[in-house]
Amino acid sequence: MDQNTKERIDYLRSFLHEQNHRYYVLNAPIISDMEFDNLMHELQDLEAKNPDYADPNSPTQRVGSDITMAFNQVTHTRPMLSLGNTYNEGEVADFYNRIVKEVGHDVDIVCELKFDGTSISLKYENGNLVQAATRGDGTHGDDVTRNAKTIRSIPLKLKGNYPASLEMRGEVLMPHKAFEMLNKQRADIGEAPFANPRNAASGSLKLQSSAQVAQRQLDCILYYVLTDDMSFQLHSQGLEAAKEWGFKMSDSYKVCHNLSEIYDYIHLWAEKRKELPFDIDGIVFKVNDLQIQRDLGFTAKSPRWAISYKFKAEQAHSRINEITYQVGRTGVITPVANMEPMQLAGTVVRRASLHNADVIAALDIHEGDTVVVEKGGEIIPKIVGVDIDKRPDGAKPVTFPSVCPECGTLLMRIPGEAAHYCPNQTSCRPQITGRIIHFVARKAMNIDSLGEETIELMHSNGLLNDPSDLYALTASQLLALPKIQDKTAENILRGIAESKNVPYHRLLFAIGIRFVGETTAKKLAEAFPNIDALKNATYEQLMTAEEVGEKIAKSILDFFANEKNIEYIERLRSYGLQMVAEEKKLLTNSLNGLTFVISGTFVAYSRDELKSLIEAHGGKMLSGVSSKTNYLVAGANMGPAKLEKAQKLGVNIISEEKILEMINNGKQD
Ligand code: IVH
Repeated sequence: MDQNTKERIDYLRSFLHEQNHRYYVLNAPIISDMEFDNLMHELQDLEAKNPDYADPNSPTQRVGSDITMAFNQVTHTRPMLSLGNTYNEGEVADFYNRIVKEVGHDVDIVCELKFDGTSISLKYENGNLVQAATRGDGTHGDDVTRNAKTIRSIPLKLKGNYPASLEMRGEVLMPHKAFEMLNKQRADIGEAPFANPRNAASGSLKLQSSAQVAQRQLDCILYYVLTDDMSFQLHSQGLEAAKEWGFKMSDSYKVCHNLSEIYDYIHLWAEKRKELPFDIDGIVFKVNDLQIQRDLGFTAKSPRWAISYKFKAEQAHSRINEITYQVGRTGVITPVANMEPMQLAGTVVRRASLHNADVIAALDIHEGDTVVVEKGGEIIPKIVGVDIDKRPDGAKPVTFPSVCPECGTLLMRIPGEAAHYCPNQTSCRPQITGRIIHFVARKAMNIDSLGEETIELMHSNGLLNDPSDLYALTASQLLALPKIQDKTAENILRGIAESKNVPYHRLLFAIGIRFVGETTAKKLAEAFPNIDALKNATYEQLMTAEEVGEKIAKSILDFFANEKNIEYIERLRSYGLQMVAEEKKLLTNSLNGLTFVISGTFVAYSRDELKSLIEAHGGKMLSGVSSKTNYLVAGANMGPAKLEKAQKLGVNIISEEKILEMINNGKQD
């Protein structure tokens, strides 16, 4: 490699690290996304051509890979301790007074936010990230370096005057926005949502595929500097220095000189926490002077120079008037407590979910009970207990109904699942209207002229029993309904007619196969380009499609095994809905009849681009290496398991350049 190339690589690496820091830590980018992407491509290209000059901490290493891994255990150099908790201001005063007494004079206390995520240790040698580890049991944690590298606010290389050997401790968080998006995606495919951003953050950090972690939009804020060659005497100086080295530090900390300033800080953040883009669950107090910290030392479990104060979740008591049972689109029954309205953390609360029969039993709820309702950092109120003293004499325990509250059908409970459900898919009202509401939704058939109320109204007037009935509606039927005028009827009918052009993959989402979300529907439409191909697919064939695992495959088989669903699909077909994927125009036939699997990351194309390219020239993409695979296109960081399997099966292993060559050679003009 010539000197110029080496210099260019060095320059690009340091420039892109700097831009990353500006974008993800400082929130102040100075170049456009496009410029950033172009330079990143240039660097990827140069690195691919000069593999000897690789760097595990190059900015190109942020994308992660789909290699699965079991985590190696690491032993923490210094144990990762927890903090003693306090729950009221009196206990905070006890902590402060104890320290002042022990030290013999006033001490400064740094007040910080207690970030509600999962703790992480980051180790740097000569400014390079060498290890990221979870807390584990405090002594041993999991090595999550590959995953942590995908978190953009974690610097891979440090800046400025950093110590040669450094450990930083902090918290990996999932901001509210990312959390909501993730749960929405999960709900779309019938996956259980994460209960809170903390669980989502720790779950994400332990994902097997770092490429998937990269999608999760995690953030990392640091709060503790550990190094032997410290040139500063105060914790607050450490926080400021770490900011210069490139870490994301919080500006919210404050050096307090007395108890009254500490109280002010608590009161300030008890309110201001609501404006933060992520959860905090309290405040942490630390002695600022590092020499005093060393003098005070540690107990077996926690430092004696620090303590946390946990915010109390606000609670209120209220009587349950009635428990109602809601029936969802898939028949799942959700019990809901309807209570005397109460004021709680700034809003009026009337209802709270009781989730399922197990939750009711665990809380031991009796009829007419007064319950304790809590609202923590999260927005959703939760019933956490019963006020037994207020239980009416002779009150009976609440029993879960045995029949559907809507249609009287005997409820079922799948062994191993907590939910009860109503199996009467065909004539249970909320299941029918729920399916139609899902069908017309924006991301499904997008019939926005039809609202929930109108759908309920049409159903109760006998006009709609399943989504296919929409296509038989006439103007006179609509005009006979209350509140529907000429213009409205016209809009509804136009919306329905236009939906006949909605592409096949959106129809696949709309028909409401359990666990088939928007993304899965797209992947299914690619793998099975018409509905008959999907209907006739075997379990094994379904499993080869991207995004499809055991649960989804079984659910698709169940759906098409039901005669009623087949009739439903046939009715939709008869109205002219799109049941065939739009033909992708082939550029050439050069790869016709050949099957490909791609793995790793590529230089000239993203994975999706490479797939589209292969398909545009007639090749077929497979998701896993098998005896049916003709070619494995190997990129950087490819999984060793895939490679080994391909070698064993005698699959041709080729590079991305070779694909281009095959396309060009086979091109028939
Ligand atoms: S200092 C030895 N500061 O709270 C001192 N911890 O129970 C180590 N946490 O596991 C902790 N925000 O994950 C510290 N500003 C902050 C924090 C913080 C959140 C977490 C941390 C630790 C737990 C303490």
